[in-house]
Amino acid sequence: MARILVTGGTGYIGSHTVVELMQQGYDVVIVDNLSNSNAEVLNGIEAIVGRKPDFENADCTNYVEMERIFNTYQPIDGVIHFAASKAVGESVEQPLMYYRNNIGSLLTLLEIMHVFPTKNLVFSSSCTVYGQPDAEHLPVDENAPLKKALSPYGNTKKINEDIIQDAAYADATLNATILRYFNPIGAHPSALIGELPNGVPNNLLPFVTQTAAGIRQELKVFGNDYNTPDGSCIRDYIYVVDLAKAHVKAIERMLNVPEREQVEIFNLGTGRGLSVLEIVNGFEKATGVRVPYTIVGRREGDIEQVWAAPQKANNILGWSAQTPIEDVLRSAWNWEKHLRNLS
Ligand code: UD1
Repeated sequence: MARILVTGGTGYIGSHTVVELMQQGYDVVIVDNLSNSNAEVLNGIEAIVGRKPDFENADCTNYVEMERIFNTYQPIDGVIHFAASKAVGESVEQPLMYYRNNIGSLLTLLEIMHVFPTKNLVFSSSCTVYGQPDAEHLPVDENAPLKKALSPYGNTKKINEDIIQDAAYADATLNATILRYFNPIGAHPSALIGELPNGVPNNLLPFVTQTAAGIRQELKVFGNDYNTPDGSCIRDYIYVVDLAKAHVKAIERMLNVPEREQVEIFNLGTGRGLSVLEIVNGFEKATGVRVPYTIVGRREGDIEQVWAAPQKANNILGWSAQTPIEDVLRSAWNWEKHLRNLS
């Protein structure tokens, strides 16, 4: 079976993807420096799959280390590159760290892939590249214009997409799939892996589950004066396990469909927008647990509304996000309970 190298494979989306790959029979080598994840995740993966992935504690920006890893595990049939820093606010305060980390790691990988026989790259991008799409581009498809990034984090995604396009143009043997994620949420149904936010969560779902668990007093809903039906922002929340499965489809396509375009881009979302208040109410309904909240002012840099047109991924990857939102919200709660030893 093919071997896939997964950078950032102990992280949130990475670990769920490793599970799906291994369950489909792939051999997986994880490269992660554990800067925002925990080696315990490897035990969770083993408990779900029944075997351990190979693991290398290394920094993807380190050429010498990455070269050693590529030499050790040949043949490597594909790379999925998740490893990146992802906190928007932190990126505004430490832009150089973000550029060095997020761009340096991709450059290192591409340089190595240029000299090794490994030629298939899947890259984790984000719907952040679309900014706030104009009304005529909602739901947003892959041809919508890209907007100036609102943060260094967002800019690294945009720049990395350009770097991949340029590298592929110069090297006809390089194949890439760029996946633009909408808002990944939830956890594996086993509750053995999930999101591990560092400190106070920035993202909505971890804040909701921590509030439900009593760790946070109340959720602050950032704004109810947007031009949306209930005034709160709208996003396309996609189940992390559905998202992980899309990566397996992307790898399968790169390995088995030679007539694909050299660089393909897919939006990964459900095609349905939900407001912050719909998420809070949906969570309470799905779990029976109350989430106290107050409405506060808008958060700087927030997009009012964005959701995906996922038809390209549906048709070409043969993938769609199918898990009902109630199940997704319940999975997030089950994971929080597992973390806190709540019954
Ligand atoms: C954010 C980033 C996005 C990044 C993604 C990765 C911004 C502007 N965007 O997406 O670039 O790819 O994280 O993790 O930061 N909300 C609350 N209260 C909270 C937390 C969130 O009301 O305590 C609201 C937000 O205003 C937003 C929605 O919940 O409307 C989702 O927020 P979040 O989970 O942070 O995701 P994004 O902002 O969409």
